[in-house]
Amino acid sequence: MQELHTNALGQLYNPVRQAGSVSPAHWHVLGAGAIGCLFASALRRSGCPATLLLRAGEDQDQATIQVEREGQTTQVQLGASPVSAPGHIGHLLVTTKAQDVHDAVLSVAHRLDASSQVLLLVNGLGFDHTLRTELPAPAYFHGSTTEGAYRLQRRHIRHAGRGVTRIGQPGRDSAPDWFGQWRRAVSPSHWDPLIAETLWLKLAINCAINPLSALHRCSNGELAGPQLAPQVAALCDEVIEVSAAAGFAKVTTHLHQQVADVISATAANRSSMLQDVLAGRSTEIDYINGHLIAVARHYGISTPHNQALYDRIIKLGN
Ligand SMILES: NC(=O)c1ccc[n+]([C@@H]2O[C@H](COP(=O)([O-])OP(=O)(O)OC[C@H]3O[C@@H](n4cnc5c(N)ncnc54)[C@H](OP(=O)(O)O)[C@@H]3O)[C@@H](O)[C@H]2O)c1
Repeated sequence: MQELHTNALGQLYNPVRQAGSVSPAHWHVLGAGAIGCLFASALRRSGCPATLLLRAGEDQDQATIQVEREGQTTQVQLGASPVSAPGHIGHLLVTTKAQDVHDAVLSVAHRLDASSQVLLLVNGLGFDHTLRTELPAPAYFHGSTTEGAYRLQRRHIRHAGRGVTRIGQPGRDSAPDWFGQWRRAVSPSHWDPLIAETLWLKLAINCAINPLSALHRCSNGELAGPQLAPQVAALCDEVIEVSAAAGFAKVTTHLHQQVADVISATAANRSSMLQDVLAGRSTEIDYINGHLIAVARHYGISTPHNQALYDRIIKLGN
């Protein structure tokens, strides 16, 4: 790795450390966008071999990631490889949008086997159901992060806000071997034995904030105003009912307050769905409100507010 410029980036970018006697996992990163570049550079800087997986046609074996933070830029060089290349992948970090996970992971299926660890660090739920059936061999893990980053240019990102990353595998209490190295690279990261609950809570909060802000093209804070706050409350009520049916009653006990807290803490922010709508990109709606609606249908619950919002986001050309 050649570091052309470094700075004190604090928590996320720890200095290079020895990983003890365990040889570091080689992470292949599928989805070289904002979060993929952020985590790939952090892994590389911490001493893990890291390789960006590039779309077919991009034939290069090296890539440079630039990370801007607080006015300073760090450059990290790491390996690159087209998805179609041969070679086993032991550790795969998936950071595409939810709607791209299935096709992206299948494009590297020939490089995965039963020893492969696949970490899906992707917003939303339900994007992996078909994938797991079609490609059952690897061990799948889920992640959720409150880190904030966006792309300035290709492989040039701004790290806009620090956050916490939680990783887990439903039903598994203890972390796998690779997690110690991961935690040193991407800090703070926590092993989360209740990752299913964590992901459901994130979905619940996103259902109430993301599509409404995208539809009204407003900042998160504007959702607390007199016009939109009743709609937020109605969405939360539906989510709470679905959560109870799906076994997540405890997770959403305080959903109204938690959503209000997120709206307040991120008042100036534009939700990721609003950013996607403004940029003319497809959104993750199918894996946020769409997933909630599918679960509601399964339990015979009607969710008119979520459905109406879903329909309107889809009509925007999602
Ligand atoms: N950005 C954040 O601050 C943030 C925070 C928390 C959670 N998240 C979540 O993290 C996930 C990633 O978000 P992001 O903001 O990093 O998205 P992004 O910047 O759009 O990056 C996604 C990347 O995936 C690539 N990709 C898609 N399909 C692919 C394929 N088949 N093969 C190879 N590469 C493929 C895209 O390539 P192209 O550019 O060529 O299409 C793009 O580089 C989302 O679920 C998001 O909700 C993001």
